[in-house]
Amino acid sequence: MCGIVGILGKKAVAGDLVDALRRLEYRGYDSAGVATVEDGHLDRRRAEGKLKNLEIRLSNHPLQGRTGLGHTRWATHGKPVERNAHPHMNERVAVVHNGIIENFQELRGELSAKGHVFQTETDTETVLHLVSDYLDQGVAPVDAARAALQRLQGAFALAVIFAGEDNLMIGARQGPPLAIGHGEGEMYLGSDAIALAPFTDTITYLEDGDCAVLTREAAEIFAFDGRKVERPAIKSVASSLLVDKGNFRHFMAKEIHEQPEVISHTLGSFIDFAEGRVHLPDLGLDPAEISKISISACGTAYYAGIVGKYWLERYARVPVEIDVASEFRYREPPLEKGGLSVFITQSGETADTLATLRYCKAQGQRIASIVNVRTSTIARESDVILPTLAGPEIGVASTKAFTCQLSVLACLAIALGRARGAISEAQEKELTHALAEVPRHVSTLLHNEATYERLAHDLSKARDVLYLGRGSSFPLALEGALKLKEISYIHAEGYAAGELKHGPIALIDENVPVIVVAPADELFEKTVSNMQEVAARGGKIILLSDAAAERAGCALEAHIPVPTVHPFVNPLLYAVPVQLIAYHTAVFLGTDVDQPRNLAKSVTVE
Ligand code: F6R
Repeated sequence: MCGIVGILGKKAVAGDLVDALRRLEYRGYDSAGVATVEDGHLDRRRAEGKLKNLEIRLSNHPLQGRTGLGHTRWATHGKPVERNAHPHMNERVAVVHNGIIENFQELRGELSAKGHVFQTETDTETVLHLVSDYLDQGVAPVDAARAALQRLQGAFALAVIFAGEDNLMIGARQGPPLAIGHGEGEMYLGSDAIALAPFTDTITYLEDGDCAVLTREAAEIFAFDGRKVERPAIKSVASSLLVDKGNFRHFMAKEIHEQPEVISHTLGSFIDFAEGRVHLPDLGLDPAEISKISISACGTAYYAGIVGKYWLERYARVPVEIDVASEFRYREPPLEKGGLSVFITQSGETADTLATLRYCKAQGQRIASIVNVRTSTIARESDVILPTLAGPEIGVASTKAFTCQLSVLACLAIALGRARGAISEAQEKELTHALAEVPRHVSTLLHNEATYERLAHDLSKARDVLYLGRGSSFPLALEGALKLKEISYIHAEGYAAGELKHGPIALIDENVPVIVVAPADELFEKTVSNMQEVAARGGKIILLSDAAAERAGCALEAHIPVPTVHPFVNPLLYAVPVQLIAYHTAVFLGTDVDQPRNLAKSVTVE
């Protein structure tokens, strides 16, 4: 969360800082700001809300400095108001920060006792005062920054500039990502390579514990204690093109509609359709010897992982443990040496997922990551990556990344199933054939939008919505509820259909829509019983199913037909109606679909 950028340029940098921030806005949009060194003095412009507010402010009150920092904020400490917006600045120092300084209260107390007066509620302001305090003691800027870094605990990416220093910038990483961009007589810092792509493709990724001392001519990297370290400069493949919405009203709509293509690319990168075989990269261990797979992820990626568990257990006959990364990392589960740990992430930067990866690595696990951003920290720290070819996902609510994650997990289940002798060659052909049909069926599902618009009209009046599913449709119920709540702000919960009578049934009345994800598979009749329990209590049922509406055996508020396919691939198809229900409800309610309140695309804090 939060995007940071820094430029040591040849001309005024405010425009380029804003340009880079536009590419980082997915990391947060509570406020934005830039600060530059102009004639030796620091000056800044900040604005609450989206970047366009900062642009207006800058056009009315331009900044001319050639050395500057920019920041787009996802609030952690302190309200999302201008006072708390970065850069934080006094007469001597300006700082931007992504992450959380965990010992900020202790430092704030110590610095206040020394006479420092705090203007904001942020943890970041302690960094400003700490660096200033060392400067006040006569310590030179680079050493002051380094001394401050040694006092900080927590997770942070930081960039610092100083009054009177037109050719100096400090960058530091302990957790969230930070990259140096090398230009011709210019130097850059950014939270990711995409932010810097219009300026340079020569990138150095900082590692945890690195402090970079940048001038226009050189980038030197040190450990926080001052030891020099070497990090390679590499050619980045990040594209500077800001993906546009095409003819769609929102990125989310465009991304939902891209699914036939990106699922097809992703499947095609692992499956030889002519042979009916899955080819995975070498996992570096013998699949037959895997005694357990542990999967960790967050949010939507976690729900993809639950589908993966159903598939891996059923088709590869391997036990799978799955947990949200934020719990996994602190549970410290014992992991047998030589096991496989799988991480699922669109951004490749999610703090909890990364911390869990490091835990598993330290336990001797082989690390495989299903990741969309190949230049990300998680991609770089994995033994093997299984890429999703979803392309850039801009809408904050994940859609195409989810179905691409499912595509990779399906391939993993088939490949492991074959290698472990759990499925035959003929079954492998049958399953890959079923996957080959998915893009076509997903296309069909996208041609029914009028139905969702009608449904949105009714759902928008609901205060609570329940989603039910069984087997591999259970995670789809969870994903449906997450999608609805995050973009429409309607309270929604997903339940395993069989759990209904163990509590949630108390919520059912005629005002609670119940969306049932129920393909006509071996579990359909069981779910029918649950639907009848809902109907008996006046609940309004919206059925997503390939089964005819009459088979529900009760009155339906709506029936969304889904094509009949091999049950293995059902989750890939049912993802689409749950996305469209959420999307159209949010559009009907007029919320900010692509940048819903309080959220960010890349969650780099715990
Ligand atoms: C929901 C959503 C989030 C992410 C989660 C993990 O629509 O997008 O729940 O899935 O924050 O993010 P990644 O996949 O980047 O690790």
